[in-house]
This record gives sequence, structure tokens and C-alpha cells, in this order.
Amino acid sequence: MTTETTLTTADLHLLAEAGGLAPSLHNSQPWRFRPTSDLHGLEVHADPGRAVRAADPEGRALHISLGAALFNLRVAAAHLGREAAVRLLPAGEDAQPCAVLDLSAPARTPQPFGADLYPAIAGRHSSRQPFTNRDVPEALVADLITAARDEGVTLTMLEEAEVRRVLALTSEAEARIAADVVREAETRRWLRLEPSCDGIPLEALGSHDRDARIPMRSFTGHPPHHTTPAARFEALPQLATLITLFDSQADWLRTGQAMERVWLLATVHGLRASVLHQAVEIPDTRWRLRDPAEGPAHVQLVLRLGYGPPGTASPRRHVEDILDLPER
Ligand SMILES: Cc1cc2nc3c(=O)[nH]c(=O)nc-3n(C[C@H](O)[C@H](O)[C@H](O)COP(=O)(O)O)c2cc1C
Repeated sequence: MTTETTLTTADLHLLAEAGGLAPSLHNSQPWRFRPTSDLHGLEVHADPGRAVRAADPEGRALHISLGAALFNLRVAAAHLGREAAVRLLPAGEDAQPCAVLDLSAPARTPQPFGADLYPAIAGRHSSRQPFTNRDVPEALVADLITAARDEGVTLTMLEEAEVRRVLALTSEAEARIAADVVREAETRRWLRLEPSCDGIPLEALGSHDRDARIPMRSFTGHPPHHTTPAARFEALPQLATLITLFDSQADWLRTGQAMERVWLLATVHGLRASVLHQAVEIPDTRWRLRDPAEGPAHVQLVLRLGYGPPGTASPRRHVEDILDLPER
């Protein structure tokens, strides 16, 4: 039965398009969206065929990516004037969703996230370019911390000594990943370095700005002469960690929502961001990333924040490929 709260095909397209614009490890886009049987909500499913298994054997990054997509769905729901009641579901069979959004109620407040984040969904891109040396204002840092905390995740802006320690661990992890042929082959597949691109030296995929001490991954697939001169990177990157107390699938989904909420809010304020994930991908460097002062917490993500060029849009799957519409 169709009621006024039934999601229309246009609503579902708008929601899926927003979800599909989320950031994901290697742009793997490991999601599918399916309307609930009463057409009052949406299920978020993992797409196991798009798991990045060598880099992410536990599915941690996969669920962070799904969490980011879930947050975009919440923002898009607010844009449609709907309240999003979210249920995170425990790990189960492949056919089981990891989250369900009930969208049957009208929005209680027009801006549930403080600012209108909807335009930032399409405007947010990873910016791996050099940033300026301008500091992120303290008031904005405080807002980003609050945004993450509202999602149950701790955002910590790192002091200089911690930045240097985290960059050193990231470089170490980057070198270990580059020496792992299985990982490199997997990265190449996700970068779609098809035969025409073969022969690109592996260092084109990894760190090529050692002088700047930012082990930035290149996802452009361009040969090394297209890479950025080291000297133009900011002297001391501004890094933040996202931390959770536990390390369950729900924590990963929460981290993804927090990451995207912080990233969209940053985008609204003209702040750019990119992810430095290498050290989190190896168990012992991930363990060493912890600041002992934070207690027994789990580092889920390292974000680089700053002012600079916006980054460019990366390709996305078509809505038809990520939205399972019912037969009507
Ligand atoms: C869990 C996770 C890990 C990521 N790791 C990295 C990384 O190590 N280096 C990087 O440059 N980008 C990283 N990214 C960003 C993705 O590469 C990026 O989101 C994707 O290519 C889509 O591009 P966009 O963010 O511009 O939409 C990561 C994203 C996620 C969600």
C-alpha cells in the first residue's frame, strides 16, 4: 500500500546517489542499498565482491566505508524532510544488512547536524595536494571534535611530536606495504591500472614525497613525473586521529559516520582533508599508533586536514548498480 511516507523512486535515487558519493578504501564502493519491504526505509548492505581483502582482511575499512555511506544517507534523508532512525545490525550472513534506516517520520529539525551538509556530499573530495601552512582555527577544531563525539567517536588533533610519530609510522607501513607483492597487485587492480598502464614503477603507487615527510598515496595512476614536488607540501601537516574504545563492526560503522560527518562539516568551512591509512592497515603499526595517554583505545583512521586545492571528483558506480529496486 502506498502512503504519503512511502519512498518514491526519485527519493530512492537521491538517497542512493548520496550514499554512493561516500569515500571508501581504494574507492572500492563496497555498498548496496535496498528499500525495506514497506518502502519506508532503506537497508545498507556490504557488497562482498568489492572487499579489498589483502589490505583489509577483517573488513574494518569496508565497514568504515559503509558507515560513511550511511551518514550520507542520513544527510540526504534530512534533505528530503525525513527523520532517519538508524539501527546498526551485528555481523551476520552476507544477505543481512549492516544497517537499516527507518525514514517514515518527518524531520523533527531541519538541520539535525547543525549545518546543511547536503551540498557538501557532492563537494567533498580527497585532497592529496599540498596544503598551505594556515592553521585550522580552534573554534572549527572544537566543532569537528563535537561532530565526531555525536557519532560516538573521539577525534584528537595531534600535537607536533605526535604528528611526527604518526608520519614515521605511516612511512614505515607504506614501505612494508610496497614490499608486499600481493598487496601491490591488489592496489593495482583497484586503481584499474589496466594493461595500457602496465610498466608504471611501483613507487608511483606509493610514497614519492619523502622530503616532505608525508607518505601520500597516489591514486591517480599517473606516472611519477606527474607527482607533486616535495617542497610544496606543508611543513607540519595537521593530523587528527579517530579513535573508538572498542573495535567491533559497530565501532567501524560509527567511525565511518563520524569520519564523513567531520569531512562534510570541514568541506562546508572550506577545509580540505585526506586519509592516511597505511599505518592502520598493519596490526603492529596500528597498535603503535595509539597514544598511551588515550588509554586502551583503537585508532581507526588518520585524517590530514588543511587549506589548499579541493581535490577532484573520482569515478562512481551508476545508481542503478548500487540500488536494488523492487519490482513494481
Ligand atoms: C577506510 C578508508 C581508507 C582510506 N585510505 C586512504 C589512504 O591511505 N590514502 C588516500 O590517499 N586515500 C585514502 N582513502 C580515501 C579514498 O581513496 C577515497 O575516498 C576514494 O578514492 C574516493 O575519492 P574521494 O574521497 O575523493 O571521493 C581512504 C578512504 C577510506 C574510507
